[in-house]
Amino acid sequence: MNRDEGENPEVGTLTGDEVAKHNSKDSCWVIVHGKAYDVTDFLPEHPGGPKIILKYAGKDATEEYAPIHPPDTLDKYLPKEKHLGPVNMDTVEQEKKEDSPEEKARQERMKSMPPLEACYNLMDFEAVAREVMKKPAWAYYSSGADDEITMRENHSAFHKIWFRPKVLVDVEKVDMSTTMLGTKSSIPFYVTATALGKLGNPEGEVLLTRAAKQHNVVQMIPTLASCSFDEICDAREGDQVQWLQLYVNKDRKITERIIKHAESRGCKGLFITVDAPQLGRREKDMRSKFDDTGSNVQSGDKVDRSQGAARAISSFIDPSLSWKDIPWFLSVTKMPIVLKGVQRVEDVLKAIDYGVHGVVLSNHGGRQLDTARSGIEILTEVAPVLREKGLEGKLEIFIDGGVRRATDIIKALCLGATAVGIGRPFLFAMSAYGQPGVDRAMQLLKDEMEMNMRLIGAASIEDLRPDMVDVSSARHHGAGPTDSLSETAYDKLITPYQMLKSKL
Ligand code: LAC
Repeated sequence: MNRDEGENPEVGTLTGDEVAKHNSKDSCWVIVHGKAYDVTDFLPEHPGGPKIILKYAGKDATEEYAPIHPPDTLDKYLPKEKHLGPVNMDTVEQEKKEDSPEEKARQERMKSMPPLEACYNLMDFEAVAREVMKKPAWAYYSSGADDEITMRENHSAFHKIWFRPKVLVDVEKVDMSTTMLGTKSSIPFYVTATALGKLGNPEGEVLLTRAAKQHNVVQMIPTLASCSFDEICDAREGDQVQWLQLYVNKDRKITERIIKHAESRGCKGLFITVDAPQLGRREKDMRSKFDDTGSNVQSGDKVDRSQGAARAISSFIDPSLSWKDIPWFLSVTKMPIVLKGVQRVEDVLKAIDYGVHGVVLSNHGGRQLDTARSGIEILTEVAPVLREKGLEGKLEIFIDGGVRRATDIIKALCLGATAVGIGRPFLFAMSAYGQPGVDRAMQLLKDEMEMNMRLIGAASIEDLRPDMVDVSSARHHGAGPTDSLSETAYDKLITPYQMLKSKL
């Protein structure tokens, strides 16, 4: 039976009762976005395990399905004859789910959510998102690998670099625009790739596209987005610039198709992720039991897929990817190629030898190898070596991880970075406040950037030079002494929620 598009929906429309009969592993139909699918044969192949599908056998699975599958997934992976056509959703019984006490508490917190104007910096969005996001979504976005030491270090590493500002520089006009991989940007940061945007907001990554357009900043499109690649491209306007972040598929034909498609859709850079031959263990994500019903340890399947959403959806990534593959990538595209996740100067030098156009010094937001160094610290290792060898400018250097203030951006640029990637903060802003949240987050960064460039004595990006930072403590990993007396005396910095409470 195939009553998909093109046929008269009135004649072919299925009823909720018809679908509900197919509620077992012997005949399993599910409804997604108002259409029914026969997924019986697909059960054993589902990367997330059969159990999660069986939970929705005969029912509407859209709410669970949408955030973690791009909309073209069913077309790509389920044969046409298994697409059963539209369902009259009025006839589908809506399950009344009793909210957990945790969910009820979250809804209470939503009622007293601070207004957007109460967010004054990027951390504020995180503080609000933590209170208002659904637990599995928060756990997935906010988690880091293992003990989360690298995740936290990414941010605190910036505090080990201090400024050496210049005075009496004319900074009446400050120009913070720059060029990355040959294209202009209003400010040297870009929206870096982060997976599963619809976990935070039902519209997903296209909201980031729209905010990026408003601020003339570049967006990197993630392989594991909730929106399809084409939807994210379609949301682009005018000469807006997008790059593609690529997880390399074991099947190189698929990889080649993705690259060529991205190039034909106008992507201006290919960022190949090289720090994730296997996805790290994010225990908070695992503990939140994102897919506890999907765990198939007892369901007879030999593969244990009980390790969180990210691992389930990333099983296609090729762990055999190596330097040997780089010439092939260079041969299949004209887009500049950037290796994302480089962590030592030796590999930067190798990247130059291989002729790629850039590297992102990154540890994947602290989600991969724990106790890997921060991007900014790696930059303090890389930049002087490139200068010494006369290789400065041979490739563009980006960093990401832990950037929360314009001063962080400025430090990276002083040290020789072209730009920095910012990921989670925009997700949190989007999850808490939608597109206006992302818009405000970007505007706050711009305001901070203008002010701090003035204060350091730089009227343009070219003025940000290595002598404007003191990096003598940058690689010092020991904790300094704690002055507990001053800690007691100084006011604690507060979140937007605490600010509201203090006014009640
Ligand atoms: C992650 C991958 C999917 O960090 O990028 O979750």
